[in-house]
Amino acid sequence: MRYPNITSGVEGFLHGGDYNPDQWEPALWDEDMELMKKARCNAATVGIFAWAKIEPEEGVFDFDCLDAVLDKLAANGIRAVLATPTAAPPAWLAEKHPETLRVKNDGRERSWCEGRVNYCPSSPVYAEKCAVVTRKLAERYREHPALAVWHVHNEYGGGCTCGLCREAFRRWLKRKYGDLDSLNRAYWTAFWSQTYQSWEQIHPFNGVLMGLQLDWKRFVSDQVLACFENEARILREVTPEVPVTTNSYGFFVDYDPRPWAEAMDVIAWDCYPQYHARPEMWKRAMATSFELDFARCLKGDRPFMLMETTPSSTNWMPVEKLKRPGTHRLFALQAVSHGADSVQYFQWRAGLGGAEKFHGAVVDHSGRSDRRVFGDVADLGTLLEKIAGVTGTPVRSDTAVIFDKQNRWAIEGARGPRSEKRDYDVTCRSFYSWFWRHGVSCDVVDADADISGYRLVFAPMLYMVRPGVAQRLEDFVRNGGTLVTTYWSGIADENDKCFYGGRPGPLKELLGIDSEELDVLYDDETVPVTVDSRSFPALNGTYSARIFCDLVNVTGGKAQEAPEVLGKYSGEFYAGRPALTVKRSGEGRAFYAAFRDGGDFAERLCACLAEDMNITPAAEAELPEGVTLRSRTDGETDYLFVLNFTGESRTVEFKTPPGVNLSDGSRPGNSVEIGPYGSEVFKVSHA
Ligand code: GLA
Ligand code: ZN
Repeated sequence: MRYPNITSGVEGFLHGGDYNPDQWEPALWDEDMELMKKARCNAATVGIFAWAKIEPEEGVFDFDCLDAVLDKLAANGIRAVLATPTAAPPAWLAEKHPETLRVKNDGRERSWCEGRVNYCPSSPVYAEKCAVVTRKLAERYREHPALAVWHVHNEYGGGCTCGLCREAFRRWLKRKYGDLDSLNRAYWTAFWSQTYQSWEQIHPFNGVLMGLQLDWKRFVSDQVLACFENEARILREVTPEVPVTTNSYGFFVDYDPRPWAEAMDVIAWDCYPQYHARPEMWKRAMATSFELDFARCLKGDRPFMLMETTPSSTNWMPVEKLKRPGTHRLFALQAVSHGADSVQYFQWRAGLGGAEKFHGAVVDHSGRSDRRVFGDVADLGTLLEKIAGVTGTPVRSDTAVIFDKQNRWAIEGARGPRSEKRDYDVTCRSFYSWFWRHGVSCDVVDADADISGYRLVFAPMLYMVRPGVAQRLEDFVRNGGTLVTTYWSGIADENDKCFYGGRPGPLKELLGIDSEELDVLYDDETVPVTVDSRSFPALNGTYSARIFCDLVNVTGGKAQEAPEVLGKYSGEFYAGRPALTVKRSGEGRAFYAAFRDGGDFAERLCACLAEDMNITPAAEAELPEGVTLRSRTDGETDYLFVLNFTGESRTVEFKTPPGVNLSDGSRPGNSVEIGPYGSEVFKVSHA
C-alpha cells in the first residue's frame, strides 16, 4: 500500500526551501534558478511574509515579483509551495485598523514593530483582509504550472486576550455548556465562592479554576484554527486539487493538535534539532524521533512534509555547533525514515538584513555554490532522487505511546502533587526510548486515537481521562492488547474535576486497583521495589522508585479475576504494598507501574514485553549505542534506514544482509560499517 504523492506532478521528494525573491534585486532571480537546479532542489516556498510587497496599500495589489518568479520556477521545472502572507501583516493594516493587533496576557497591546504573528485571531478586519489577499493569490495562480501546495500563513502561534477575544470565549463557553449552572458544576466553582452569576464575569485568567484554564487553551486553539480555515476554505474553493497545509512545530505549539490535523490535507512540520548537543547526541536524536513520530501520527501512518529545517545552523539556539560532516544527511534521512516525503529548509538565501540574517541558508552571504553547506544540500538532493521510491510508503508500528496534549496541559497546570519534576514528556519518552534504541518503530498518539491496530500501548501518567478513553482502553485490552499505565493516571475528567470514588477513576476496573494515597519523594530519595514473579521472570530484580510512589490496593474489579502483583515496595512504611501489577481481561492484559523509576525499570519492561510479544525491529541486528534502524514499506519493498548518531564509525551486525545500498548500489554482507554521523538506506524486495 502506498499513499499518493503529496502533490501531482512530483513523483519523488520535494526538496527546497523558503525563498524570498522579494528581498532581492530581480537580477539575482535567474541565478537563483541555476543554483536551485545545481542544489538538486525541485521546490521553493514563496510568498511567506510578502504581504507588504503584494498589497503595498489596502486594496492595491502588485504581483509583478511573484508573477515573474513563479514563471521562472515553472520554466526551470521547480514547483512552488505557495504561501499566503498573513503571518506578517503590513504596517498599513495596523495603522488603519489598530484593533487587528494582539493583546498580550498582561493586557498590553502588542506593537506592530514586534514583527510577525502580532494579529488578533478574533478580529473581523484581520480575517477580512486575510480573505482578500488569499483570494487574490488563489485566483491569480489557480492555473499556474508551478503551483504545487498551498502553505497557509506561517507557524501559527499564541493567542490574544483583547475584548473581542474575551467575548468570543464567552460565546464559545455558551455553546459548550448551554447554561451557567452546567459551567459552574463542571469547574467546581463553589470552592472559594468562584460561582459565576453572569457570563460577563468570566475572565480567561481565573488562576484557581483549572477547568476554565483548559477551556481557554481549547478556545485559543479553535480561534486560531478558524484563521487557518478562513484561508483554507477559499483556497479549496478556487483550487480543489491543490493540497492545503500550514507548518507547525514543537508539539503543535500550545494548540490541541487533533482538530488542526483534521483541517490540514497534509501535515507540514518544522524541526530544528540541536544536534551535537551534550552529553550524548543520540539522546537528543531520540527525542527528535519522538517529535517526528508525533507529527506523522497526527495523520496516522500517512507521510508528512518536513517543511523547515536548517541547512546549517540557526541563529536562536544558545549554542549550536555547525553540523559535522554527515549530519545534514543524517537528520534528513531520520525525518524521511519517520515518514517525511519532503526535505525543505529555512532558508534558501540568507538575507543581508533583518532578524534572521545570521540564520543558516543553502546560499550564504557569499552567494557561492562552492561552499560546504551548499554541497551537502546538493548531495542530499542527489540521494533523495535515488531513494524516490520511499515516498508514499507508510510507517508501520505495533507499539504506541499515548502522549496527549490536553493531558499535558492538565498535569502541568495542576497544583500538586509536586511542583517540579512532573516530567510528563520525559516519562513518555522513557517508554519510547527502548524501542528507539532497538530499531523498533513506536507511534506517538493522543488519548482519542484509534488504538485498535496496535498490540502494545503505553499510556504513562494518563491523568486526564476524557469521555470515551477508558472504554477504548478496555476494548483494546479485551481484544488482546497489552496496556501499560502508571502512577498519576485516572485522576480527573476533561475539566480537571477529580473522579468521585477515587483513583484511578474510570480505569479502576481495567487495572483492578484502587489508589489510596500518593507519596512524593525529594529528588535524591529512593524507595526500593522488588519484582519477583513467575509470570515475568525477566523483570525480576530490585529497582529504585523515585519522585512518585503510588500506594494502591488490589481490588480485582467487578466480579473479575484479581490482578497479579508482580512487584512490591520493599522500603518505607508501605513496604509490602503492590508496586507493579498486571490484570488480565479478555484476551489481553493491563500493567500498572505504581512508581517512577530511574529508567532501568521502563527499559526492562519494554524489553520483556517486546520479547514476550515478538515485537520486531526494522531488521534483526546487533545495534551499537547511538545507532538506530527504521523502515518504511509498501508491503512489497522495504526501505531500511540505518542511522548513526555518534561521531565514531559503528559496525552493525545484521542477521541477514540488509539489501541494496541505494546510495551506491552496493550489496553489503551481514556486517555493515556506518561512518561517523553516517546514514544509509537499503532496499529489500519481497516480490
Ligand atoms: C521558524 C519560522 C521561520 C524562521 C525559522 C528560523 O521555523 O517559520 O520563518 O523564523 O523559524 O529558525
Ligand atoms: Zn483579540
